[in-house]
Parts: sequence; C-alpha cells; structure tokens
Amino acid sequence: MCGIFGYIGSRKDAGKVVVEGLKNLEYRGYDSWGVAWKSNGSVSVRKDIGKISDVRSEDFSDECSLAIAHTRWATHGGVTKLNAHPHTSCDKQIAVIHNGIVENYEDLRRDLAAKGHTFVSQTDTEIIPHLIEEEMKTTKDFAAAVRAACLKIHGRFAVVAIHAASAMLVAARNGSPLIVGVKRGKGEHAPALSGVEGYFIASDIPAFLDQTRTVQYLDDGEMLVSDGKSIFFSDIRTGEERPKREIEIQWTQQQAEKGAFEHYMLKEIMDQKESVARAVNQDDAQIMTLAKAIREAQGTFLVGCGTAAKACLAAEYFFSVIAETHVNVAPASEFKLFHHFLKPESLLIVVSQSGETADVLEAMRVAKSAGSKVLAIVNNEGSTIAREADYALRINAGPERAVASTKALTGQLAVFLLIAYALAGKLQEGKTLLLETSAAINDLLNPRYIERLKTLAEKISAKRDIFIIGKSWNYPMALESAIKIQEVSYIHAEGFAGGELKHGPIALIEEGTPCIALIGKDEVEGDSISNAIELKSRGGYIIGISPERSDAFDEWIRVPDATAAQAIVNIIPIQVLAYFLAVSRGKNPDMPRNLAKSVTVK
Ligand code: F6R
Repeated sequence: MCGIFGYIGSRKDAGKVVVEGLKNLEYRGYDSWGVAWKSNGSVSVRKDIGKISDVRSEDFSDECSLAIAHTRWATHGGVTKLNAHPHTSCDKQIAVIHNGIVENYEDLRRDLAAKGHTFVSQTDTEIIPHLIEEEMKTTKDFAAAVRAACLKIHGRFAVVAIHAASAMLVAARNGSPLIVGVKRGKGEHAPALSGVEGYFIASDIPAFLDQTRTVQYLDDGEMLVSDGKSIFFSDIRTGEERPKREIEIQWTQQQAEKGAFEHYMLKEIMDQKESVARAVNQDDAQIMTLAKAIREAQGTFLVGCGTAAKACLAAEYFFSVIAETHVNVAPASEFKLFHHFLKPESLLIVVSQSGETADVLEAMRVAKSAGSKVLAIVNNEGSTIAREADYALRINAGPERAVASTKALTGQLAVFLLIAYALAGKLQEGKTLLLETSAAINDLLNPRYIERLKTLAEKISAKRDIFIIGKSWNYPMALESAIKIQEVSYIHAEGFAGGELKHGPIALIEEGTPCIALIGKDEVEGDSISNAIELKSRGGYIIGISPERSDAFDEWIRVPDATAAQAIVNIIPIQVLAYFLAVSRGKNPDMPRNLAKSVTVK
C-alpha cells in the first residue's frame, strides 16, 4: 500500500536508481508515481498519474546523489497528478513521501493555513512538508524539524524527507514499514571511508535486492538520518541513539524476478512446485513446542485478512479433524470485538504473507494488551508482525510480488497442517504427507495441465457469475477461489459451503452458470457430489476439481488424492484458472484495479 524508495550515497545517478527501485515496488500501488531529487542546491520534483513501469529511468539524468520516489495507492484524495507524492513545502525546498494516514490532518492543515501555508492537493500527506517548514523557522536543523513534525502527527506512517539546503536524507516510521539496504562499495561507485557506497530506504526488501542483501530494520517510533556515508538511528521521541545490527537476508534477486514468465502471478503459482516443501522444512522441536502451546492455551484464536484468513478457516478444520482441538477463527479486522475472551493464558495465531497488514497488527496489540502470547506465521523476512510476535514461523515461500496471494497460501496451509499433526502426536506422518503432496504438485503443474486450464478459462471467461462449493477444508478453499477469481478477472464469483446452497444461493443458478465443486476423497465426498448434482439439476455447468471423475461433472479437473492436504492441491488449479480468466479478459493479473499488496491502512 504505497511504495517508498529512497537513495543516498556516492552514486551520481540517484534519480535513475530510485526509479528502478520503485519499479520493483509497483505491486504496492499503481495509481500514480513521483520522484524528487536534490541537485545543485535545489529540489526538483516530477510526478504523474499512471504506472511507474511506463517511466524511463534514463530520463532522470540530472547528476545527483540523493533522491526519493513513491508509487501511490490513493487513500486521501483522488488519483491526480497533484495528489501524487512527493509533496513539497511552500518554498519548494522540502520534499516528502509518505505511507500511512495522518489522522489529525484536518486540525494540522487548519493551523498551518492560519500561519499562511497554502496547499495544492487533497492529500493528508501534504501537511507534512509544511509542518517541517514551519518547524524550521525555530530550528535550522532539518532532522530536528522532521522529528518535531513527526511528533505532531497522529496515526501510522512511514515518511522520507529531503531538503534543498541539507545533505541528509531523513526518514521516520510509526506503524508502516521502512527498511534500509546497506551497500558496501566494491564496484564502479566509489565507497566512502566507512566502506559504504550508499543506503536504500524502502517499504520492502525486494525493492533493493538487486543492490544488496544487507539490511537494517527501522522500528516503530524510530527515525534515521544519513549523509550517504553513515547512518544514525534514534528514538523519535527522546532523540536517543538506537544502535542497529546489520542482517544478511536469505532471499535472492533471482527469487524476486519473474524470469521467463509473463506475470508474477503465474511465476508464483509455478513456484509452488518447491515452495510447499520449503514450508514443511521446519524445526521439529519448534513445531512440537507450538503444538504444546496450543494444547495448554486457554483459548486459541486464529486471525488473518483475505487469503490468510481463509488459511485460518482451513486450519480450524485441520485442528478439529486431525487433532480434535478447538480453535476460534476471526477475520483480523473483527478480532478486537472478542477481546473479552482473551487472558494471559490465551494464544493468538496471526497469519500474514507481508507481515505488515494493519488489521493483523491491531489484533496483535489487542492480544498483547490482555497479556496473551502471539505466534505469527509469516512470509516476509524481518516484517513488523514477525518482529512483534512472541514466536514467528516463516513459511519460506520466497518473495511474493503479485497482488493475488498464491504460494503464500499453500505455505500457510502446510505449516498449519504440520502443527495439527504435531498436536495429534503424528508430526512425522504429517511431514511425509506434505512432502508427498509437494511432489504431486510438481507433477501436476505440467504444461499440458496448464494448457487445459487455459482452455477452460477461455470457455467460461465471458460468464457473468461463477460459483464455487466445497465442504470441510474445501469450504474455505471455495471462499478463497472466489477471492482469486474476483480480484484478477473481475468476474462475480462466490464461494459457499456445499450444504448451504439450497438455503438461498441456489436461486442464482441459471442454465450454463459455471459451478466449481472442490472435492476430496474424504468423509464428505458423497455429500459434495450430491451438492454438485443439485446445481446440475438447476442448469449449472459443473466443473469438478477432484481426484476422481464423477457423472455429476461436465468438466473434470483431476487433482491428486492428498487426503488431509487436499485443500493445498485443490486450490492450485483454481489459481491457474483465475490467472487465465484475467488474461483472456485482457486484464493484468499482477495489478488488479483498486488493490495493492500489503494493506498497511485499516
Ligand atoms: C488476496 C490477497 C489478500 C491478502 C490480504 C492479507 O489474493 O492477497 O487478500 O491475503 O491482504 O495480506 P497479508 O497476508 O500480507 O497479511
């Protein structure tokens, strides 16, 4: 949700560097973009609506060593050139990019207007450069002015600011991610005495993976000041230094690239040939400890948003069927209403690919204020959720850049299954099942299978509605199927528990309506087939995703029999189908309208 990228260092082409970096962050927002750079003692700004991918980095040729850039996902104010970041002060000397929401911006704007400041945009962000400008009337120190301005802002933010008269880049964070990439110089760009060639300040690690894998994390309530040769971290409130370690992260540039694939979404679907096995590669002792924590907890709650919430719902079935253990599931955005049931002995399990989702962070804070423990199941290395949780389990999916979550979901499901098997005292059985499932996925995702799903997508892509049904753990997968189809193809899709259809939704079925039935060889298989027949009798065109063919199906999409891991294999053909539905309707599946990866506002 908004991408931030800044550079300060010894390179003389900072404008080009930040445009290239911003292209790696486009998945965080693609309404509009903007760049500010400092050269010859002044700040220049260029911004526009549209996609950063359409911008040529060579057009940013001014010699400069300090630049900031932003890709926007609109919250306050429509998608216009004036509302795009960076925003500037009245004297145009200060430029700011921002992620988050300034909750008290109306009050601040009124005060600043009374002091003579004029505003050109409808954004909350624009007050920040003006606040800094106002503070600079009392302190000539740019970093001190940014600190004072940040103390006046209410709400979650990540801010990066530059000033025409300062050689510094200043950034601050409270609730929205900001990570520093540190590049040691050994190549064409002369390093400083410190050995540093430059610093990259970004919302996400993949943005600078092509430059460095050495990172420093800025925590909430902290700011940083850099002159390009060194960097100083401090507490926003007290100004006290906050020393930071440098951390080498595991992700590689290759993992973050789409390679020969046309879209990240398809690349990430295909990554599942290996990513499920990576999710299973957990430390047995740690999984057993977590299973014990669930067994002993007085109330275990599972929360996430969107696709991650569907993983939680599937886990409710895993824990019940495999381990006879009860857990409570809620969308993270609803969780605070259940705070009465939290005790210090309760356990909250949060699931998040990005590790930055605002509603999930809020749920964690609700649990922590009740003294409960928090376990996070995350993908992004070093994310806020991973660092704020008491324990964090990584799903090891590698960078997920397409807005539609695919490999993260199957990793989350695999980790939940492992914990469920551990709870049942059968961890090794669970591991074996998941590794066999991973091998079956590898076989499944072959060119013929992909082609078959492409043909099916082309056949149904002009339909108005698609319905998906499932029972047991296939029910959350039916809900997830609907999300996948809706968000990338814009076809109206809805998922239901198979047995619920005859209580209302069946009235929507018309002759030829595509109805997808997700089925496994389990205790509800017969009921699921009956539900499919009910739809067929009303004219539904039945697409069965199942290990076995049935007369109920008009089309059969074969999947391997994966027993308790059926949810993992059944969702994969749906991901491929959703991808080709989008492509055959001429939509870019990596950039669905109105959406952004990593939802850092509530
Ligand atoms: C859908 C999708 C979203 C995310 C949701 C949570 O394909 O990607 O529904 O699952 O925004 O995001 P994370 O997992 O990053 O917390």
